[in-house]
Amino acid sequence: MMKTTWIKWSISAVGGLVITGCATYPDQAATRQLAEKMVFEAFEASPAHMKRLEQDKSQQICSKIGDAKPGQEDSAEIVRLARASIRYPASGQLSGDWKAGDRLAHDGAGDRIRNGKTEANKENGALCQNCHALAPGEINVGNVGPPLTGYGKQRGNSEAIVKYTYEKIYNAWVYFPCSNMPRLGATGHLTPEQVTHMVAYLLDPQSPINK
Ligand code: HEC
Repeated sequence: MMKTTWIKWSISAVGGLVITGCATYPDQAATRQLAEKMVFEAFEASPAHMKRLEQDKSQQICSKIGDAKPGQEDSAEIVRLARASIRYPASGQLSGDWKAGDRLAHDGAGDRIRNGKTEANKENGALCQNCHALAPGEINVGNVGPPLTGYGKQRGNSEAIVKYTYEKIYNAWVYFPCSNMPRLGATGHLTPEQVTHMVAYLLDPQSPINK
């Protein structure tokens, strides 16, 4: 079914180009719209999964500019939306349990789709390891983001650093619009409490990251 939908779309796309090719040429926006429609319609999943294809306002801005840096106006809008997305834990404590954070940093479970169903999980992992180097000597780490090894040792844990770290993990776009760091709290992947554990993991002197 997925294949036939793709083929149907590909044929109509090619047909459209051939027929309209002589008179007009689809502009960039029209081509993008068609490509997005093709991807959307080729993807078959449950309504909950389909919802993941809907971009929020910030993602729409980031998609529109592609790999370019967002301009001043777009940046300001993304930062405004990111700021508005941040929720703090009921306790008001932004730094939690580094041991829980250590486990979550290496845990990739949660929100994955298997056989058309989202896996059932007590809690989602954070999978920082996929993109960041963590404790010294750990192998099998990603380099999409900067190494976080020694993060707390280098920065201390003043109130300002705790707050920055919480917000950065909750919604990275507050500080870096359109970056490749997922907005882990804002998208609901991590709870505010889980984010406090990640903060402790990065900042606590006892955490393996600072050894
Ligand atoms: C998909 C890849 C990806 C994942 C997963 C990811 N990050 Fe990031 N992270 C990045 C990228 C890319 C940057 C640099 C751009 C930016 O600052 O947004 C970054 C930046 C950061 C920074 C800012 C570093 C600095 O010097 O101030 C922190 C802190 C951070 N990540 C923590 C985490 C933690 C903790 C997790 C897990 C809860 C995590 N990241 C998961 C990609 C990722």
